[in-house]
Amino acid sequence: MNRLASTVIAVEDGRTGACEPEGVVVRTEGLRKEFYSGRHEIVPLDGIDFSAERGELIAIVGPSGSGKSTFLHLLAALDTPTSGALYFAGNPLLSFGEPELVVYRNRSVGFVWQRHHLLPDFTAAENVAIPLLVHGTPAEEALRIAERWLGEVGLASRAGQRAGELSGGEQQRVAIARALVNDPVLLLADEPTGDLDERSAAGVFDLIERLHRSHRLTTILATHNLALARRADRVLALQHGKLAPGTDALAEGVMALNGNAGSGPVASGGLG
Ligand SMILES: Nc1ncnc2c1ncn2[C@@H]1O[C@H](COP(=O)(O)OP(=O)(O)OP(=O)(O)O)[C@@H](O)[C@H]1O
Ligand SMILES: [Mg+2]
Repeated sequence: MNRLASTVIAVEDGRTGACEPEGVVVRTEGLRKEFYSGRHEIVPLDGIDFSAERGELIAIVGPSGSGKSTFLHLLAALDTPTSGALYFAGNPLLSFGEPELVVYRNRSVGFVWQRHHLLPDFTAAENVAIPLLVHGTPAEEALRIAERWLGEVGLASRAGQRAGELSGGEQQRVAIARALVNDPVLLLADEPTGDLDERSAAGVFDLIERLHRSHRLTTILATHNLALARRADRVLALQHGKLAPGTDALAEGVMALNGNAGSGPVASGGLG
């Protein structure tokens, strides 16, 4: 059995409580990412030490351009760091070969983007089934599982509807079902409510929170919405390449930089 297969099984065993149910799912050490824009160097991540345990819901806040998406992309193995180390269930992701990374992205991680990226001409159920088909599940079974997941996100009656005909909030619910259909341990969400009005945003966050708890996920969510961020178990602020516990001073800075859109009042108790 290869290393990743054993990782997946080890973590799945963790779901049943047999294997470190409270263990660290993802960990970074000195994670650094540099970009070059012409001769100009950008360092959104400058030595990030981070870890997330089973069942934790962590919100990452920070000004636009601070590196939140960059960080999530590295955790999802959609990009590679310039230096540093990255572990999933204790396994060094950076030493995985491409076949193992494909399995990691497909089985262990669910990713929800700000834009849903659904295929508009395919039905809701077909969109949700895609990761299962990639994974080799027969089509009929994949659609059955997809329909069950659409039920979990409150859209059972819309399974046969074209994704392009659904509202923005409904499309994001379908995208969440698609992210979770392979039963990942780690859910990464990059501003999942950023394109939605306040009411739909709260509904989508409620859904993520409910699925996070019921499936014992480790969820890491980047958001500009401080009112929603405060509902996480931990709020971390990314600024100047560093990740630190969120503070009200940072919250005020983020709100000012983002024109205060959808961020809600600053609580007196602090973010962290
Ligand atoms: N592929 C790339 N090439 C060059 N620079 C990049 C690249 N990707 C990101 N950057 C830069 O890295 C920095 C961090 O970008 P990132 O998208 O991670 O920020 P963010 O915190 O997600 O911002 P936002 O809140 O606006 O989504 C920005 O300065 C961005 O321009
Ligand atoms: Mg971003």
